[in-house]
Amino acid sequence: HTLPSAHPLVDGRTTAAPLVRALRGDRPAEVPVWFMRQAGRSLPEYRAIRAETRMLDACLDPAVASEITLQPVRRHGVDAAVFFSDIVVPLLLAGVEVDLVAGRGPVFETPVRTAADVARCRAEYPAERLRAALDPVRDAVALTVSALGETPLIGFAGAPFTLAAYLVEGGPSRDHLRARTLMHAEPETWHALLDWAAELSSVFLEAQVAAGASAVQLFDSWAGSLSAADYRAHVAPASQRTLAAVQSIGTEADSGPTVPTIHFAVGSRHLLEETAALGTSALGVDWRTPLDEASQILGDRLPLQGNLDPAFLGAPDEVLRAALSDVLRRGERAPGHVLNLGHGVPPETDPAVLTRIVELAHAR
Ligand code: CP3
Repeated sequence: HTLPSAHPLVDGRTTAAPLVRALRGDRPAEVPVWFMRQAGRSLPEYRAIRAETRMLDACLDPAVASEITLQPVRRHGVDAAVFFSDIVVPLLLAGVEVDLVAGRGPVFETPVRTAADVARCRAEYPAERLRAALDPVRDAVALTVSALGETPLIGFAGAPFTLAAYLVEGGPSRDHLRARTLMHAEPETWHALLDWAAELSSVFLEAQVAAGASAVQLFDSWAGSLSAADYRAHVAPASQRTLAAVQSIGTEADSGPTVPTIHFAVGSRHLLEETAALGTSALGVDWRTPLDEASQILGDRLPLQGNLDPAFLGAPDEVLRAALSDVLRRGERAPGHVLNLGHGVPPETDPAVLTRIVELAHAR
């Protein structure tokens, strides 16, 4: 395969950037660092832009989305940008009626709960409809990548289970009980739903990669609510297909996929074996599981990303420094380490603390 990208910078950047090297199991001189939710409400320059623009409008305006994506790179000197978008954007572009409600999250006009609902989604909002509507995403990525130069852009998508959990519930929920019930009550309907969600996620990721993203992260925010057996039987095949779609885009002889993948699920220590078996290049680990323990469970097979507890961002400097050293030391056990938080940046975070973490990590 060759990379189906028109962007001339793609080839040079992908192999050399510390982030990409670490995701392939290498140890660059400085540990690469970025923060989940770095492009967002902790930055005053972000709030200034968002004051006049609705969230999903900002995602679909290439100049705005690109500017917001670049802000944390300029301010903190992180080793990667993460594309400013949202996990519901592919659903929206496929035609699904969805809104992002501040302080709440994704809310769907019509929850997807029955075999007929799933059949209607697949018929009315097929992946081809998404593919035909992706220009704003392609343009935002291309603009961003050309402004980033040597710094890689991480593309992302929501994993099929997390998308399905929102669709079935109609919005955020605590334990995703309705979604998990559908899985057992109507397994065929469930698989049809996940199949469709996996296709939308794949198409969204492929567009970002084709436009110049150097790595991608699949967010399975709610997978932690599943048992290992249910994850394996009812969720893993869909996530695996989505990751495989990205990994099949050009492979380099001895260093694996051209565009490495990160899989991240919150609260998923009990799923480490299952998520490692998805075939992802690297695994994100939340703050609950020390990186050396995660690596040991995995037989030290996979590069890891994480996992400073966001709660330390508000602690005194010496407390933060000790926690950071601990994460970096434990991360040495894995075949590669990308420093990150154990979940997203909280909105009330002092941005100077994030800049400080980047400096400390690079100075080590
Ligand atoms: O990480 C980044 O900086 C890139 C952008 C990004 C956003 N959402 C922007 C956003 C990414 C990677 C996401 C992923 C996302 N979106 C996930 C997976 C990650 C995770 O946290 O587990 C999930 C579950 C969503 C769904 C979603 N979108 C939620 C729960 C919310 C929060 C609602 C709220 O206001 O509290 C959103 C909205 C959202 N997505 C915001 C941002 C910056 C906040 C919008 C605002 O600024 O008002």
